[in-house]
Amino acid sequence: MLAKYCLSSLALPALCCNAVAVSAGKPSCEEVHFTYNITSTIANVSPPPDLSTNEAITSYLPVLVQNLKTAPNVTREGGYTLAGLFCKAPNHKKQSSPLQVLAHGSSYTKDYWNRAAWGNMTVENSWQQFAYEKGYSTLAIDRLCYGASSHPDPLLDCQLTTSIETFHALFGALKNGTASPRIPIPTELAFVGHSAGSITVSNFVEAYPNDVDTAILTGWPSGPIANIGAAEYYSSHNLTPPATPPSQPAYAPGAIAFPARFRGLAQGYIASRNASQRKIGYSGRYDHSYPFLDYLTQSTFPLGEATYTGVLSFPAFRGKVIVATGELDSFAHADLDVIARTRGRFPSASSFHWVNGTQSGHLVNYHRSAHQTYQKVFALLGNRRHATPQQVPGTQ
Ligand SMILES: *[C@@H]1O[C@H](CO)[C@@H](O)[C@H](O)[C@H]1NC(C)=O
Ligand SMILES: *[C@@H]1O[C@H](CO)[C@@H](O)[C@H](O)[C@H]1NC(C)=O
Ligand SMILES: *[C@@H]1O[C@H](CO)[C@@H](O)[C@H](O)[C@H]1NC(C)=O
Ligand SMILES: *[C@@H]1O[C@H](CO)[C@@H](O)[C@H](O)[C@H]1NC(C)=O
Ligand SMILES: *[C@@H]1O[C@H](CO)[C@@H](O)[C@H](O)[C@H]1NC(C)=O
Ligand SMILES: *[C@@H]1O[C@H](CO)[C@@H](O)[C@H](O)[C@H]1NC(C)=O
Repeated sequence: MLAKYCLSSLALPALCCNAVAVSAGKPSCEEVHFTYNITSTIANVSPPPDLSTNEAITSYLPVLVQNLKTAPNVTREGGYTLAGLFCKAPNHKKQSSPLQVLAHGSSYTKDYWNRAAWGNMTVENSWQQFAYEKGYSTLAIDRLCYGASSHPDPLLDCQLTTSIETFHALFGALKNGTASPRIPIPTELAFVGHSAGSITVSNFVEAYPNDVDTAILTGWPSGPIANIGAAEYYSSHNLTPPATPPSQPAYAPGAIAFPARFRGLAQGYIASRNASQRKIGYSGRYDHSYPFLDYLTQSTFPLGEATYTGVLSFPAFRGKVIVATGELDSFAHADLDVIARTRGRFPSASSFHWVNGTQSGHLVNYHRSAHQTYQKVFALLGNRRHATPQQVPGTQ
């Protein structure tokens, strides 16, 4: 199904996209769906308690993290649909082009990569627009348990291992041309993440090192938050640990907190009622209307996301690695120590680059420096736009 309108109303955030913008300078995009049968190994944690009462989620999350360490592994199967927004590169028509598959962070959706126009219709923040200008097709995916993709059991079916299997099925289909009649077999593949999406990408390229050529990790929680040595890191740097999401988020089941948006979702799909808590992704220079718009358009996140730490070293991957981190990212701590350790985690990568998002917090795409950050990333990738005759404006 093709969404036929854009950004006209904040009341319809889930449908918000630039789907039908067809002009000389804008990508033509459409919604696509993929359905796969997935088998994966998951931690078989017991069902959660009633999560509807105040503070129930805040008290349960640390218990869950603990339980995950000892829960037995079991095999689980399911048939799942992934929704995506495919934006075709210019000048490629039906021919192949390089393709980037985009994986959003926790409590966002595929709109993260194309939310061009909060407030004022600027496209400065759209990764998909920028990639198009550089000759790359993009496929922004609602990760399993998000957006228009399947919402199975939020604890058992939304663990990292299952998400990795859905992406493996997708990349296999993209490479053999069976993913969608609209998507030609790509000439090269990059897997791009933000935050929990970057945790997905890094763990994915370790599990399936031959599926993609390039891993791009934005807002990757590479520092203490992903590190068992956090306490030591903080004391050696004389730092106070930052307020991370579990501190005062006023969590509630999405279906209870925002019934108009999340009616029917199981209790383990969680949202936050605290609008100021949403500021955690912003620091430095950004449009101060964004955090509240961000809050209004938040998605739920599933309990199973407590498994999103995975391994911390990725020796299997031999492709190219680009890490783009806001210099003020409180989830990543982009100091030189952390960057040096990050490089060491990809010992076999053909190249490793770090991009400094200036005056940017965790959400590198939503800061004033976003365009500049994209320029740095795509300079490392190379321009793939064909030098074919100029298009007549307004035609495609
Ligand atoms: C998934 O499995 C079901 C039941 O075994 C089968 O009917 C269906 O065709 C499978 N779907 C895909 C996409 O492989
Ligand atoms: C489950 O599998 C993971 C990954 O292989 C492993 O690290 C973990 O120790 C296993 N858990 C148990 C309880 O065996
Ligand atoms: C193409 O890839 C899909 C998903 O990985 C796989 O299920 C299917 O068997 C493959 N088809 C062919 C013709 O190789
Ligand atoms: C909301 O979050 C902010 C920022 O994390 C925090 O200072 C405030 O106390 C929270 N409010 C509630 C009602 O929890
Ligand atoms: C739109 O917002 C961006 C980002 O905050 C800002 O830089 C730009 O000046 C704004 N444009 C207009 C026309 O208001
Ligand atoms: C990131 O860029 C800023 C501004 O150019 C600079 O002050 C800072 O030192 C840089 N950070 C790192 C870790 O290189």
